[in-house]
Amino acid sequence: MTAPGPPDSPLSRRAARALRDEGDRRARTTDSTSFSPFVLPDDLVGADAAATSRARGATPAPGEADGPTRHARPRRIARVGVIAAVVAAGALLVGAAAAVTGMVSGAAPDDSAAAAAHVAAAPPPVSELPVPTVEQTPVSTDICADPAVIAALEASDDAGAIEAAGGAEWFRIAVAGGAAPCVDLTDPTRLWVVINKTLQFDPVDYWPADMMFPEGVRSLEGGSLRADASGALTAMVTGAREAGVGEIALLSGFRSFNSQMATYGRHVDARGVEGADLVSARPGYSEHQSGLSGDVVPCAGPCGTLDDLAGSAQGEWVEAHSWEYGWIVRYVDGATDVTGYLPEPWHLRYIGPELARAYHDGGWTSLEEFFGLPPAPAYVG
Ligand code: DAL
Ligand code: ZN
Repeated sequence: MTAPGPPDSPLSRRAARALRDEGDRRARTTDSTSFSPFVLPDDLVGADAAATSRARGATPAPGEADGPTRHARPRRIARVGVIAAVVAAGALLVGAAAAVTGMVSGAAPDDSAAAAAHVAAAPPPVSELPVPTVEQTPVSTDICADPAVIAALEASDDAGAIEAAGGAEWFRIAVAGGAAPCVDLTDPTRLWVVINKTLQFDPVDYWPADMMFPEGVRSLEGGSLRADASGALTAMVTGAREAGVGEIALLSGFRSFNSQMATYGRHVDARGVEGADLVSARPGYSEHQSGLSGDVVPCAGPCGTLDDLAGSAQGEWVEAHSWEYGWIVRYVDGATDVTGYLPEPWHLRYIGPELARAYHDGGWTSLEEFFGLPPAPAYVG
């Protein structure tokens, strides 16, 4: 900004007063918003940024570039309004500064040399000013303080809780940031349950309610799923058929604690404990016990094996589209050091359409990273 004129000049006194008034006004504005409504607490930013940076996908995590899609929540919309006001105030300040510059220059309208100098010193047009970056981050991710979230949790309405939290990405941010103690990632009845080598089922012989065979899906080993996952598998298999990629069948769904003993034991017999642990969960540690996981295979008349999925049209389609139906591929290439398992393109896990969209859009490759949990490459103890 151009320096004010001599101190005894009336023009410069007016300019100085204008600047002082503007400064006072800015100070008052700053005081009234001394907390920043758009900045996450440092610990939350750190936790979430760390989790985001661990995501292996090339796609930037939502919120890094454009921010997550937000459901209409009045108080957050109000904050966006405040952002607009702050940006508008910034533009006014730039205008005021330009006006003051003109005043203190003392240039007469007909003094062309002075006018030329003034033009040379004038600030750039508004169109050339840098556009401020406005980050839409919540002032607080304490979703558990929201009665609507609590009510939905108490009603076992997982989708309702996610919606009340502002959508899946806000829900995830709160959970990953450790700001959602009401969300229990170990509750086996929840869509967001995480089962891995460090998180065993509790109770260890947990048995889900509402089990059924997916309608219109070949279930090769009599696999059943929880009702919500079952409906979602029917929808996914129908979607694949309508997309022209062929039939997808369910090879294996729910596995009880006892059936996991048999399955894991077979793998140990075939490849030893170390080898078995890379491909099969120990009893009480398999997601299949939740009723939310299924192993799928491609069929063309007869059905293929698990290993046939990856090279099939169905496998390609599953990788690209299963999230649209609420499923994620749980064990992917490159995430063994987090999940503890070799890639299993056939092992799908139902987390519901909202979370699955956030998982897909964020390029996440493990539920552990998605929810800010530590890697679980090995059993403890
Ligand atoms: N194959 C997966 C890891 C399971 O046994 O649950
Ligand atoms: Zn599986």
